[in-house]
Amino acid sequence: MGLHNKTISKMNRQRWLALGLIGTALVLGSIAAAANTAANPSTKSAVSVAQPADPSKVIGNDACVKCHAPEQAVWSKTPHAKTFDELHRRPEAKQIASKLGIESIKHSGRCVNCHYTQQSVNTVTSNMSAGVHAIAGVSCESCHGPARDWLETHHNYGGPDVTRLTESPEHRKQRVEAAIALGMRNPNNVYLVAQSCYRCHTTADEELVNVGGHSAGSLTFDFVSWSQGTIHHNFVESDGKVNIPSSPERLQLMFVAGVLAEVESTMRAVAKATTKDNYGVTVAQRAARSGARLKSVASKVNDPRLDKAVKIFETVSIKLNNEAQLNKGADMIAKIGVDFAENPPASGLEQIERFVPTKDKWK
Ligand code: HEC
Ligand code: HEC
Ligand code: HEC
Ligand code: HEC
Repeated sequence: MGLHNKTISKMNRQRWLALGLIGTALVLGSIAAAANTAANPSTKSAVSVAQPADPSKVIGNDACVKCHAPEQAVWSKTPHAKTFDELHRRPEAKQIASKLGIESIKHSGRCVNCHYTQQSVNTVTSNMSAGVHAIAGVSCESCHGPARDWLETHHNYGGPDVTRLTESPEHRKQRVEAAIALGMRNPNNVYLVAQSCYRCHTTADEELVNVGGHSAGSLTFDFVSWSQGTIHHNFVESDGKVNIPSSPERLQLMFVAGVLAEVESTMRAVAKATTKDNYGVTVAQRAARSGARLKSVASKVNDPRLDKAVKIFETVSIKLNNEAQLNKGADMIAKIGVDFAENPPASGLEQIERFVPTKDKWK
């Protein structure tokens, strides 16, 4: 990862506190005005903030497995799948729950938001009562979006006689766009998937950390190195036969998308900080580090959108009790991230090749 290790090590905690948490608010009119445009739903692309999967729209991995058996097989061996059976048995989990007065880890929204997938059941069956149930750990839909609304569009190739192989490129493009509009976090726009990761791997919950003692997020998380190892499941090109490694160009784009998504998510995490405690200090440090990483990427890849993202980061104050400004900034970064992943620069990304984590670093 070495992109900015120097910056991090130099940035000691005291200095950071002085600069960030206790700094003066610098609300620039321009940012507020631009963010208003970002929040306006009539503009072309509305901001896509990652959320826990809506239980009423969750259909479960079983709906994917008939076409995606190899992906499911990879997934079933990951901590994302295993957390379903393991988490509530772990002493550390029980300890966190008891500090927060939570009786059932599997039923408390607090833990379910990131450790489980919930589904609403309307029709009572022999083994399920009506209501909301945790049906899996972190599942397909946790990362790719709850599928009730998009599944049909996802495999509609344009008519009864059209197959995946005879579908026109225009239809494919429209189909992917339509699925995204219906809530799919489709890796064709990899920022949308990066946002899923960072929503969970940045613990934006002050009480869970300060009172419960939960970690303040996966501090070493990096989109490339955490997505290309054990969780990697790219079988589409080989029709399910081989888990194909992502190309260097793909990884470069994912790297930049990850850097932007980390800036977005850490700004949202700092937005939740109200006291100068473990949570506030840790998420502020992480935000500063992600901003430094962004700056470094922007200086190497010549793209005005990255310069704009740096400017947004530098304009907002990484400090306590600054929710509105930080969330506005995060919304603006999200828009840039979605646009960047949709229309990557024609050239220049290869400038970051040597910073993209290599295979030996993949988890
Ligand atoms: C009827 C078969 C079918 C079902 C059911 C299905 N998929 Fe797919 N999916 C495909 C095929 C085929 C592809 C390969 C790319 C293509 O042709 O669109 C694909 C591609 C994808 C992709 C890659 C992005 C893309 O759009 O090409 C993702 C992500 C994905 N599927 C997720 C899911 C998830 C999650 C589910 C369950 C909620 C699911 N799929 C259910 C057939 C299906
Ligand atoms: C914002 C998302 C989020 C929420 C909410 C959350 N967790 Fe976690 N939790 C994570 C992530 C991500 C990890 C993996 C952390 C890492 O990489 O170090 C984790 C790790 C853990 C671990 C350590 C797992 C291990 O490998 O030993 C425990 C225990 C735990 N969580 C318990 C809980 C409990 C109990 C709750 C509810 C009170 C909860 N978590 C709520 C995201 C969350
Ligand atoms: C719904 C929340 C959620 C989402 C979305 C999510 N994760 Fe996780 N992830 C977790 C939790 C919780 C754990 C820890 C599970 C445990 O140990 O019980 C975890 C663990 C992991 C691990 C194992 C870490 C280790 O130390 O072995 C990797 C790797 C990982 N996640 C990568 C990713 C990537 C990459 C993405 C996005 C593509 C992602 N995660 C999206 C919640 C999530
Ligand atoms: C932890 C988050 C996460 C989970 C859980 C997850 N995916 Fe993915 N998925 C990703 C990421 C990230 C990519 C893009 C990886 C890349 O291009 O290197 C991806 C890519 C895909 C693709 C396209 C692969 C290709 O060959 O281009 C399909 C299909 C897919 N996922 C289906 C599924 C299915 C089905 C499940 C559930 C069994 C699932 N995913 C679970 C994060 C996740």
